[in-house]
Amino acid sequence: MSIDTTNIQDQICRLKHSVNKNFTDINKRFSEIEAIVKEEIKIIESYKNKGESVIPEIIFSDILKNKVDNKTVQLLRRHGAVVIRNVFPRKKSEKWYNQLYSYLGQNGYYEQNDPGLDNYFSDLKSDKPQICSVYWSKSQVQARQSIEMSKTKSFLNHIWNYKRKNTKYFDPDRECTYADRVRMRQPGDTSLGLSPHVDGGSIERWLGKNYQNVYRPLFQGNWKDYNPFNGEYRTEVEGIDSPAVCRAFRTWQGWTALTQQGPEDGTLQLIPTVNSISYVLLRPFMKDVPEEILCGAVEGRAQAITEEWHSLLLRGLVSIPRVEPGDTVWWHSDLVHAVEHEHKGKDVSSVIYIGCTPFCERNLQFLERQKQTFLDGRSSPDFAPEDFEKNYPDRSTMEDLNELGMKQMGFSNW
Ligand SMILES: [Fe+2]
Repeated sequence: MSIDTTNIQDQICRLKHSVNKNFTDINKRFSEIEAIVKEEIKIIESYKNKGESVIPEIIFSDILKNKVDNKTVQLLRRHGAVVIRNVFPRKKSEKWYNQLYSYLGQNGYYEQNDPGLDNYFSDLKSDKPQICSVYWSKSQVQARQSIEMSKTKSFLNHIWNYKRKNTKYFDPDRECTYADRVRMRQPGDTSLGLSPHVDGGSIERWLGKNYQNVYRPLFQGNWKDYNPFNGEYRTEVEGIDSPAVCRAFRTWQGWTALTQQGPEDGTLQLIPTVNSISYVLLRPFMKDVPEEILCGAVEGRAQAITEEWHSLLLRGLVSIPRVEPGDTVWWHSDLVHAVEHEHKGKDVSSVIYIGCTPFCERNLQFLERQKQTFLDGRSSPDFAPEDFEKNYPDRSTMEDLNELGMKQMGFSNW
């Protein structure tokens, strides 16, 4: 599932020729997408101007009671993002925060060399990151394998089309663990900003055969047929190996708040419209773009969203609303996101990164690579091999995995 990285510029030119040849009214179609996106951005701006959040919210207990109304689900599908509140009780989340704080402090995390984020983000970061490269603290493992997290992910995975007839692209009710890191951002910090970007690669979206299948309606001119929640081909998309590229299949990216945090606290920002990816994908075919350029796409890097090519989209960048410990935030794997450049608040803003990585062949293969890193206390295989936790005596071990955790980690069968 990788693509040919030789002569990328030639490949881009060939692709543009072929799309332009078969898709003669591409300018007209792009204008239609632009008009739709403009409307979406206007709505986002109107909420922003009123000081309200456009991102839909759900109370976790409504998921348990199967009481989430259709209107909210429609908003979730439209914006590609949601805040799910009270997934964990405040006390539990605060305990996780304290546990994590001690874990990092007592094991001397801050005295180690922090090599920072890798090249994948090197054009995006403002300075030294405040993300801690730990994967196996008790707090992280407990949050990942909790029943609350499992119910939340199951709800979110069901938003996707996960099967057609007898073919199941993934199983929405079973999860594979994808070990990610934590954010512990200090107040006053001006160092972690990430410019707007989309994860899941950049040039791959145009040049990869399976990615082309995912976006086929867009490249063939019937953009209205494109369904951002169609799981077909998604579990097989190509990736160029890079230390921070996610090699698992994610339906949603997400995090769980361990502390209270809101706008200006150095938090997440989103451009909450799922149509943005249609705009991004067709933008390079417009006449003002040089032939060999894919507008913000650079091999081995996240897809950058820039003032030069995507100024319309950037008007819709909003910070997520204030969240409390135990709330979770989720965004579609194609959604544009960023991190505020400055933490102007008073308290540490802390999250555990936990996205949705449902059961499928691709994620099972990932588990096989991840298992041993857990047993050895090494970094998750998708990240730079810093292996800080190897000598942390209080990191999680097999004894800390519950029945669900054993299955999600691939140590026992479902
Ligand atoms: Fe990202």
